[in-house]
Amino acid sequence: MKNIYGALCCGLALFTFGCATAPETEAPAPAEAPETPVVQEVQEVQPAPNSKASVTTKFFAKNKLGQTVMQYTLKGAGGVVMDVINYGGKVVRLYLPDKNGESKDCTLGFNDVAGYETVDPYFGSIIGRYGNRIANGLFVIDGVTYRLPTNNEPGGIPCCLHGGAAGWDTKIWNAQPFQNGDTVGVVFTTTSPDGDQGFPGKVEAKVTYTLTPENVWRIEYEAVPDKKTPINLTQHIYFNFNGEAEGTILDHELTLCCDKMTPVDAGLIPTGEITPVAGTPFDFTTPHKIGERVDTKGDKQLEYGNGYDHNFVLTNPSKNGELAQAAALYDEKSGRYMEVWTTEPGIQFYCGNFLTDKMVGKQGKAYQFRGGLALETQHYPDSPNQPNFPSTIVEPGQVYKTTTEYRFGTK
Ligand code: BGC
Repeated sequence: MKNIYGALCCGLALFTFGCATAPETEAPAPAEAPETPVVQEVQEVQPAPNSKASVTTKFFAKNKLGQTVMQYTLKGAGGVVMDVINYGGKVVRLYLPDKNGESKDCTLGFNDVAGYETVDPYFGSIIGRYGNRIANGLFVIDGVTYRLPTNNEPGGIPCCLHGGAAGWDTKIWNAQPFQNGDTVGVVFTTTSPDGDQGFPGKVEAKVTYTLTPENVWRIEYEAVPDKKTPINLTQHIYFNFNGEAEGTILDHELTLCCDKMTPVDAGLIPTGEITPVAGTPFDFTTPHKIGERVDTKGDKQLEYGNGYDHNFVLTNPSKNGELAQAAALYDEKSGRYMEVWTTEPGIQFYCGNFLTDKMVGKQGKAYQFRGGLALETQHYPDSPNQPNFPSTIVEPGQVYKTTTEYRFGTK
């Protein structure tokens, strides 16, 4: 297998930007993505002798097409427990022990597929092919313009968000649970056909969730296209360390190991600048409560996002495929603590500014504005249209490969 840095370097060496000199032609109209055939294989996993860890599989629900969605419970030897489903690879429940050892579900989500199919803001999902926004749903590769159907319009400005209306968060993935001693996980695989949501090329994708006895949730993303295409995969889990539907995240203390960010316009599309955070409400290089500066009057960036909804640039990004720390999150009351480590150069900090009480969660309680936050490791938004951002274009046959870890603990 190619090492990660090798794959990234290769991507960088083979940059192709939207401003190609060849005459522009239109890509063929986006194909309707055929449904991936769903084969339900319930694979029971042999428990490891003398291990506190386990993986169990059960029926979760049927989706609107009548397809069966399965749930995999990963019980970690270190105390963290997660329920994940093969619909979008969603983390439905995430039980995190507090400083007294008491566990609570600390993620937002729904008990059924219907919730995810209607009002869902990507709770707990794998995001693909392109995490975050692509301006106007348009990009050019080698002189060919690709048009992605738009599915989002902040400030009235349309864009393609998180891979389109039927992105990888809506797919039923093939799933293979596994246990190796005290380590448990699930391997999700899928094929995204050529033209899926307007993107060029067929992509074979594999996303592996691993839960270690040290309470690390590792996510390894792999994707191989057969045509030149942008790929930017992430995970959209929402955290609330007070517990699911237990108030806001404004009292959580956040550190971002990022001395720069990519400012946006009213459509939440990067302007192309990469600006220092020093002296702004975006400086989380030392820990700050999220609520402290989120409503700073007169800050245009906070106004556009209605709070934090921005890509931050790692000060010391990954080298040679090693993970670099991107963030830390701490809730003093519960003592819950988390670090985010990644091979990606950026991280979107979104503090739940689009959450409303129209969404009712797993305990039957309404969610609230800023009732959860996402820390999405990624390449920068709209990279296919931003010549000075690291490239997200993957060549045919090239292995796109990134890793992110959410390391849970208490303080
Ligand atoms: C984006 C938000 C968006 C949300 C969807 C986040 O990744 O940054 O702008 O509204 O996803 O729920």
